[in-house]
Amino acid sequence: MVIRGAPVIGVAGAYGVVLAAIQYNGSNRGDMDKAILASTVAIKQARPTAVNLGWAVDRMITLLDDQNIPCLELKDKLLAEAEKIADEDVETCRRIAKNGQDIIQDGDVIIHHCNTGSLATVEGGTALGVILEACKQGKNIRVLVDETRPRLQGARLTAWELEQAGIPYQIIADGAAGYFLQKHIATKVMFGADRVARNGDLANKIGTYPLALAAHENGIPVYPAFPLSSYDSVCPDGNSIPIEFRDEGEILNISQDGKSVYPQNAHGLNPSFDITPHDLITAWITDMGIIYPPFKIEENFEKFTGEHS
Ligand code: MRU
Repeated sequence: MVIRGAPVIGVAGAYGVVLAAIQYNGSNRGDMDKAILASTVAIKQARPTAVNLGWAVDRMITLLDDQNIPCLELKDKLLAEAEKIADEDVETCRRIAKNGQDIIQDGDVIIHHCNTGSLATVEGGTALGVILEACKQGKNIRVLVDETRPRLQGARLTAWELEQAGIPYQIIADGAAGYFLQKHIATKVMFGADRVARNGDLANKIGTYPLALAAHENGIPVYPAFPLSSYDSVCPDGNSIPIEFRDEGEILNISQDGKSVYPQNAHGLNPSFDITPHDLITAWITDMGIIYPPFKIEENFEKFTGEHS
């Protein structure tokens, strides 16, 4: 959790493969490949929900296919590929921020969940990048920052990023979002994505699903913003997305006057992500443009990724 947020988790995974290669000191390609592949299992397991991690690691290990490359040269190639993935993330975020401008209007009050800014990407951010760009363009935006229990990525990270950018925000308790949606004080809901399934269901930080439900119920549009590297073309639907459960200590960390507020034998249960079904989502804001329901991008995916590379 030192590095967190799906896009930058992917980039960190790519550099993890480079480190595994550097740690191998011999000159036998077979042994080196074995050492690298063993490390990729551990790297992928570190954060099972964000598909960007598997995407980046798999992209790195395609470089192992050419068995004629000597060990030293392979290390250089792996480093160059990790740097390319990092650079691409900057460009991807720039495109997401630009594409999102078709959606954001002057005067919007946006509920934002978790952290999707520069602290979750190499630079620029996804959903928060769209908001920052809108403010740069002179749109008058106010952000209601979901605190995002239990790790408080909203209250700690998103609020900090908004403050640095001079954008007006107020932190709200996650459970307060329904109030602002029902009263139509909030005009849009935005968040990122950790894995998007083929049918358009997506996994994002825990609390996204009830937020999207309340928005949908009250007719407020819901916009996830993410790079297409978060799209998992082999995952049929949200039920197939693995959900990371984190330590109960993240839940039970509230104290008053130095004492835990919970009964002595209290336990927590801590899924870190939930699934938002596709029918609650108004449109995707991606690096390849705004994509509307029914989210059938398979037929266009080759075109998208071709243009991307
Ligand atoms: O557990 P985290 O902090 O890595 O989770 C981050 C989120 O869920 C983000 O909202 C998501 O990764 C999108 S990041 C641009």
